[in-house]
Amino acid sequence: MKTINLIEHPKWFYQKVRVLQQFLDLSAAVHTYVDGPEDAVGMSDGQIQFKVLRNRIDHELEKQALPVCRFVYEPGSAAKRLVAAGYVVDPKASSVVIGYFERHRHQPYGRPTAFTYKYPELFKQMQPYMQAVDRVYREELPEIYAVQQAAVAKTKPCWIIPGTASTTGTINQDWQTACHPDEGNLPGAFSALTCMASGLTGGELIFPRWGVAIQWGYGDVLLGNFHELHCNAPFVGEPGTFERITCVFYFREKMILCGTQAEERDRVKMM
Ligand SMILES: [Fe+2]
Repeated sequence: MKTINLIEHPKWFYQKVRVLQQFLDLSAAVHTYVDGPEDAVGMSDGQIQFKVLRNRIDHELEKQALPVCRFVYEPGSAAKRLVAAGYVVDPKASSVVIGYFERHRHQPYGRPTAFTYKYPELFKQMQPYMQAVDRVYREELPEIYAVQQAAVAKTKPCWIIPGTASTTGTINQDWQTACHPDEGNLPGAFSALTCMASGLTGGELIFPRWGVAIQWGYGDVLLGNFHELHCNAPFVGEPGTFERITCVFYFREKMILCGTQAEERDRVKMM
């Protein structure tokens, strides 16, 4: 395991405002590039900020998950993520939420997301893959995973993706994100990311605070503190000829407040 001592951008206090919602490239934002077959951990002030584990997910599980990820593709849907989408609308970029979601201004009740509700069999087909990713998280970051497990213990089991400590996942396709933090996820917990990409290079995960870019792909799991600003490097490939799917699994903090699924449905009737 390679240890990377992360060094904060010298003017981060100002820089973080400047880069928010901006697209960054490697030459402008990155001095430390993480790739190759070795696992790596990024440390800042004694705290782990990310860990990338190479070749941990069985390809058979990826083959089972891929058709589901392709099925959920919804071109243009990433534009709903206002900060992460930047100031441009990419008609190809897709971002679809699976699993469960908290009460919201427009839908003030906890619920399975539209995909999970409409396609329970496909959601089930994703589960062995999600469970394998979760196992890597549990084994590799037990102390951080324990924060998430404590939240699971306070949450109705119907809101937890079976066999995992996550409530929710996002499946992105062909989407270069602008600088954003992930909001609404459990403080102190990480997200687990995977990437299934072919036909292109680029798309590295950049943490501008530390000027670090992480390359990852099939088989790899990237665990990170995505409360910090992050984005993707530009894709390098012929548009229309590549495929890049990323999955993100995490715990939505407000799921703790939800009643059972029946109780949440009753909230709709009272409205
Ligand atoms: Fe994100």
